[in-house]
Amino acid sequence: MSTQATDRHAVGVAMKRKEDPRFIQGKGHYVDDLTFPGMLYMALVRSPYPHAEIKNIDIADAMKVPGVKAVITGKDLDAAGLGWLPTFHGFDKQMVLAIGKVLYQYQEVAAVFAESREAAADGAETVQVDYAPLPVVADPFTSKTDKVLLRPDREQKTNHIFHWEVGDKDATARALASSPRRIKERLWFQRCHPAPLEPCGCVAYFDTMGRLQFHVTSQAPHVYRTALALVTGIPEDKIHVISPDLGGGFGNKVPVYPGYVCAIVGALKIGRPVKWIETRTENLTSTGFARDYHMDVEIGATEDGRVTALHVATTADHGAFDAAADPSKYPAGIFGIVTGSYAFPVAHAEVDAYFTNKAPGGIAYRCSFRVTEASYAIERGMDILADELGMDAAELRSKNFVKKEQFPYPSALGFTYDSGDYQKTLNLALEKIGYKQLLEEQAEKRARGELMGIGISTFTEVVGAGPSKHFDILGIKMFDSAEIRIHPTGAGIVRTGTKSQGQGHETTWAQIVAEELGLDPQTIMVEEGDTDTAPYGLGTYASRSTPTAGAAIAMAARRIREKARKIAAHLLEVGEADVEWKDYKFQVKGVPSKTVTMKDVAFAAYTNMAQNEPGLEATFYYDPPNMTYPNGTYVAVVDVDRETGEVKVRRFLAVDDCGTIINPLVVEGQIHGGLTEGFAIAFMQEIQYDAEGNNLNTNFTDYLLPTSLETPHWETDKTVTPSPHHPIGAKGVGESPNVGSPAAFVNAVIDALSPLGVRHIDMPITRDKVWRAIQEAEQRKK
Ligand code: CDP
Repeated sequence: MSTQATDRHAVGVAMKRKEDPRFIQGKGHYVDDLTFPGMLYMALVRSPYPHAEIKNIDIADAMKVPGVKAVITGKDLDAAGLGWLPTFHGFDKQMVLAIGKVLYQYQEVAAVFAESREAAADGAETVQVDYAPLPVVADPFTSKTDKVLLRPDREQKTNHIFHWEVGDKDATARALASSPRRIKERLWFQRCHPAPLEPCGCVAYFDTMGRLQFHVTSQAPHVYRTALALVTGIPEDKIHVISPDLGGGFGNKVPVYPGYVCAIVGALKIGRPVKWIETRTENLTSTGFARDYHMDVEIGATEDGRVTALHVATTADHGAFDAAADPSKYPAGIFGIVTGSYAFPVAHAEVDAYFTNKAPGGIAYRCSFRVTEASYAIERGMDILADELGMDAAELRSKNFVKKEQFPYPSALGFTYDSGDYQKTLNLALEKIGYKQLLEEQAEKRARGELMGIGISTFTEVVGAGPSKHFDILGIKMFDSAEIRIHPTGAGIVRTGTKSQGQGHETTWAQIVAEELGLDPQTIMVEEGDTDTAPYGLGTYASRSTPTAGAAIAMAARRIREKARKIAAHLLEVGEADVEWKDYKFQVKGVPSKTVTMKDVAFAAYTNMAQNEPGLEATFYYDPPNMTYPNGTYVAVVDVDRETGEVKVRRFLAVDDCGTIINPLVVEGQIHGGLTEGFAIAFMQEIQYDAEGNNLNTNFTDYLLPTSLETPHWETDKTVTPSPHHPIGAKGVGESPNVGSPAAFVNAVIDALSPLGVRHIDMPITRDKVWRAIQEAEQRKK
C-alpha cells in the first residue's frame, strides 16, 4: 500500500472525519519463521495413485535415515481413535492418513518426523508402500453410474453425496414450457485453486503446562480450537491457536487439513515441537480446490425479453471426501443467489454432488459458498439469452433488473435482497466505458471481419454469513464479535473473531473505532487470530468480516460511547440527559462551547470517574439480521486475433456497490486483486486431471498465475447504496471482483466470436480453445 497521500485516499462515506489512515499494523511473522528449541520437522508420504488398495507400509528403512525420529501411518492413528477427521461440512469425514486404500493422487499416507526438513523429506522418500491400483473414477458423470463404489465406509452405498434443491420445481417447469423463447446451455465452472502465495503450515507443541500451542495458517482460529477439542478430546482451555500472518488465504486456509492433525500427534508422541510447511505441489494437489460445477442453465423469456423462469441443474464434483466447508443447512453453499440481479417470477435450482478420485474441497475461494458459480451461471445465461433474442445485452439486463423501489426484494429462491440501484450502477459503467462508441466501433470492425467483443456482467452476490437462524459451521452459529478497550490516554485496542489475510483489517477496523469514538485511528491497535485474547468468532472468508465483525466493532464502540456519556456528564457538571454526541465530541446541549473529547473521558475513566464503574471497554457479539447484497457492473472489452486465437483484454471497468465504504484505497486494492484472480480463472487456470486421475497442474509452471505482463489495467468506479440493516451501512466487497468478473471476460470473448456462430466456450478460455472454435466455425461455413 502506498504511503503517499493523494485525494484517492479520501476516506469514504461514513468515515468522513479520519482521513488517510496511513498505517499498517500486524505482527509481521509467518508460521515458517517460527523456531522453537528441539523443534522437529514433518514430511508427508503421499500416494502416486488416485485409487489403490494399500497392501503394506514398511517404515524400517525410513527409520534408518539419519535424523528420523518417528513415522506414523493411518493404522496408528486409527488405533488411537484419530483415523478420521470430521469435515467442516458436518456430513462427511475425511481420512487423516490413508486407511486401507487411497482415494486420490497425493493423498496423505504416512507422516515422518525428523531433526531437519531434509531428513524428514528423505525419510518420506524411503517409506515403502505397496499399492494395488483400483479402477479410477475421474469425473462425476462416471461416478453417477456407481460402477465403482468409492466410499464403502459410508452407510449409503452409492457415490451420490447429496441432492439439494430450492424453489418451485413444477411452477418453473410450467413457466419454461409455456415461454415463447428459451435458452439452455451446459456451463462448466472448472476446478481451480486459490493458490495463496504462502502455502499452509503449522507448528505444534505442548508447553510445560501440557497445553497445546498451535501456530497455524488458519482463517478461522476459534473454529479450529473447537474442532481440535472435539476431535482430539483435549479440553478446549488446553488448546491455544495462534494464526499469524497468513500470506493469503482466499478460502484455502479454512479447512483443517490432515497435516495439522499429524503434526499435533507427532508433537504429543515425541514430546517435541513439530513444524510442517507444505510444498507448493502439496498445496495445489491436496488442499481445498474450488468450483467444479457442471451447470445446465435454462432461461425462459417473452418475445420482448422479459424473463419468465430460471432452472439450473448442477452436477458437482466433490472429490474423495465432502470437505466443502459450507454452513450445515447449505450443502451447495448459497447457490440459491443464482437468480442474480433479475426479477424472475419463478425459479428452481438443484445440485447433485458426487465423489470422484480427486482431492476433496469445494471451498469458498474468494466466494460466499458457491456464489461465484451461481453468478457465472446467470450472467452467462443472460448473455446467451440476449444473443438468442438478438437483443443488446445491457438492454436485456435493464429490462429485467430488480428495481430500486422493490427493495427489500424477496427473490424467487428465498433471499431478501437488502438494497441496490442496479440501473444506476449499469448506467455509470456504460457511460464511463463509452458503450455507445464501443458498439459503433464494433460494428465497423465486424464489417471488416475483425473480432472485437464487449462483455457485461451485472452481478449481485450475497455475503455476511450469517444470521444465526440460518447459518452455522458444525453447529456453531455464524455471528462475529468485537472487544474494544480504550486506554487512559485515548489510545486503544480492538480485537475481533475474524482474521485478516491481507485484507487490511488492521486499517479498517481502527477506522471504525476512530469514527465511532472520535479518536485517532493511528492509535487504535487491531489484533486478530489469537484464541487466548480475541473474542469468539467464526473467522474471515466469504466476505463476511465487514458485515459481521465490522458491525460488531461499531456496536461495541457505541456501547463505549454510552458509558462515556455518563463520565462526560460528570466532567461537564450536567445531567446525562443534557449531554449530546456532536461533531465527535460530547457537548452540553445547546452550549457548543462546553465540550469534552473522548480522550478527556478516557483519562477520566481511570482517574476521575465519580460514581461510574472504572475503565472504558466493551464487547459485542453481532448476529446479523440479514446478509448483505453487494453488486456491480463489470465491462470487458476484448480483441481477438483471428489467426492465432489470442485474446487481448483492451479495457476492463469495474463499478462496484458495496454500500458505505470504510476505506476506498483498501476497497480498490480488494477489487484489483480479485479482478486479477478472475482474469486468471477466465483465461489461464484449471486443475486438470487425466482419465487415469493424474493431477496435471502440480506447480506454477502448469497452474499459471498472472504476472504484471499479462494482467490488464483495471479501471474502477463505485455507486454507494448503503445496507439498511448494517450499523454503518457497509456490505462486504472482498470477493465481488472474483465473483463478478469471469462472466464479463467470457461474455466479451463470445461476443467477439458471435458473428462466427460461436455460442459458448468453457473456461479457461485459452488461445488454443479460441483458435479451434474459429477453425470449426470456418469449417462449418465451407
Ligand atoms: O471478510 P473479508 O475481510 O475478506 O472481506 P470484506 O468484509 O469484504 O472486507 C475486505 C476489506 O475491505 C476489509 O479491510 C474491509 O474493512 C474493507 N471494506 C471497506 O473498506 N468497505 C466496505 N464497504 C467493505 C469492505
